[in-house]
Amino acid sequence: MFNAQDLNFSFQLIRWQRVHGRHQLPWQNTRDPYAIWLSEIMLQQTRVTTVIPYYVRFLRYFPNVKSLSLASLDEVLALWSGLGYYSRGRNLHKAARLIVSIHQSKFPQEISIIKQLPGIGPSTAAAILVFSYGKRYAILDGNVKRILARYFGVKGYPGERKTEALLWKKAEELLPKNNVKGNIEAYSQGLMDLGATICTRTKPKCAVCPIHLKCVAFQENRVDKFPIPRPRKSLLVKEAVMLMIIRRGMVLLERRPSKGIWGGLWCLPEMPANENISQYCAHCFGIKIKQLIHIPSVDHVFTHFKLRIHPRFIQANSKFSVISQSERVWMSFSKTMEVGIPSPVRNLLNLNFPHK
Ligand code: ADE
Repeated sequence: MFNAQDLNFSFQLIRWQRVHGRHQLPWQNTRDPYAIWLSEIMLQQTRVTTVIPYYVRFLRYFPNVKSLSLASLDEVLALWSGLGYYSRGRNLHKAARLIVSIHQSKFPQEISIIKQLPGIGPSTAAAILVFSYGKRYAILDGNVKRILARYFGVKGYPGERKTEALLWKKAEELLPKNNVKGNIEAYSQGLMDLGATICTRTKPKCAVCPIHLKCVAFQENRVDKFPIPRPRKSLLVKEAVMLMIIRRGMVLLERRPSKGIWGGLWCLPEMPANENISQYCAHCFGIKIKQLIHIPSVDHVFTHFKLRIHPRFIQANSKFSVISQSERVWMSFSKTMEVGIPSPVRNLLNLNFPHK
């Protein structure tokens, strides 16, 4: 028979985490709120194995909030290049400057103050406080939502406000009650570890889950039905013709405005699909096309739409080029390695073309 404590959620989870959880991730075994903040931001939309090399490199370049605050946005975005969701890098940089200017370079310890920093929502703020200072706050990222939605058999879609509020309430109620040192850290890490290794989106390993006995979804043999999926609207497809214009071994790049997708990153110029490409290039860039190659389209999926990219490789005649904008430059391929460029554009630049 089981007694009450055996069935206690936090007790079981902590005991499981100590034996089966992860203990050697690069952001563990530190109490430095800067390093923990960085890891939590990178981990917001990216999985652990992808984050690790970016995290290690970023910390080597910018070991503390002061060094990050002194960096240029371009340097930060270059280190972020390939991780995606670049607003995370922009917000991190902005927040570092705020911490230096308003908080005397010390990471704040008050949750209400931390949540005011750009890019830090309630779950990230809680995780920073748990792992840096052992404070007792509930976390609720996507993985935790899935665990709780299954455990309680929550009926709504977790992205909707009412359901999210219910999940927050549950997350707070489940927190370990006793204040034993290290408990809240092991508990929160346990939730993350359980979500990443056992209570996975597909093929969860319920047989080895420490809390499966009281899990509603498991009891009802409906684990695959939770969490309730987002009500489906079909994904909007946007089309973009991207011009990879090469002249004297340099490629023409434009920096995107700081707001909107890929804000502040360097991209290939785009043109409307219905324009004549020769006229457009002559008019906008002052170049004459020597060679034009149509490259097969590629899709890039964002959260709310799909971008279908139609790339055109253009070898340009050098005679006429006049580029007068500072946000539009001819860049050498070696220099492109040092600036922030979104992944699908970088993939195009990495293609092997003649005259590169
Ligand atoms: N996902 C979000 N935060 C994490 C952490 N600290 N460790 C592992 N995965 C995470």
